Amino acid sequence: MSYENIEVRTEAGKVGIVTLNRPKALNALNDALMTELGDALKAFDADPAIGCIVVTGSERAFAAGADIGAMASYSFTDVYKGDYITRNWETIRSVRKPVIAAVSGFALGGGCELAMMCDFIIAADNARFGQPEIKLGVIPGAGGTQRLPRAVGKAKAMDMALTGRMMDAAEAERSGLVSRVVPYDKLMDEALGAALVIADFSQVAVMAAKESVNRAFESGLSDGVMFERRLFHALFATADQKEGMDAFVNKRKAAFKHE
Ligand code: HXC
Repeated sequence: MSYENIEVRTEAGKVGIVTLNRPKALNALNDALMTELGDALKAFDADPAIGCIVVTGSERAFAAGADIGAMASYSFTDVYKGDYITRNWETIRSVRKPVIAAVSGFALGGGCELAMMCDFIIAADNARFGQPEIKLGVIPGAGGTQRLPRAVGKAKAMDMALTGRMMDAAEAERSGLVSRVVPYDKLMDEALGAALVIADFSQVAVMAAKESVNRAFESGLSDGVMFERRLFHALFATADQKEGMDAFVNKRKAAFKHE
């Protein structure tokens, strides 16, 4: 499929890479881009050869937010009737394979929210995160007020949402928003390295791990632990569990067949 606002490629036949590509607008996330991103993610999710997906932007911007020019004239009726955000922004939440955000430069507003919808964020040392919607007379609309406090706690989330200030990569790592920070020229190596490690594991176990960690944000501790236990038990029905444990016992590298 050919896209106008993103570029799509694969690494080693097993990692899908989506690069947001509206450089003149700092990858501002308009409707067309979000639809293309959703389509690309769904296609990688459905491809049995792909074990992990990386979403990235340019050196200057992962994404500077939803497209303000496009939004400026929207009315309540436009956004409510048009199901703005839910219709194509939330596709990423239905992706069952891991999605890593490789963030360089600005990740603001919807850009920060998009990064947080990914399973984890690897940042370049020039990355800057923020929820500046308050400066536009609105608030975050794609989960920023919900995912940011879960990632960095109430104090920093309130600070960010109410002042609109940006957080640099070092503060983002200290606060738990990103899992790793690397120099910009190492960003894709680091993200692809992580993605390739994941892609070689059992896809069934990887999907179960993702589902179980996400459950931690949707349930109480006892329910979450029970959910995890049932998935743990279920994985003993897979050939990959036999392969993984046999490989360890016999001191060889496991070759998972994702079954
Ligand atoms: C549309 C944008 C944009 C955006 C930047 N541009 N951000 N266009 N929507 N979100 C465009 C600029 O208009 C400009 O176009 C070009 O990108 C370069 O930007 P500059 O402002 O000239 O660059 P710079 O001075 O380096 O400042 C960078 C910046 C600033 C700090 C990132 O652009 C900025 O504050 N952008 C807006 C960030 C923001 O408010 N994001 C939240 C949006 S609301 P021209 O044509 O002039 O060269 C949101 C709600 C999400 O995301 C809700 C869920 C959908």
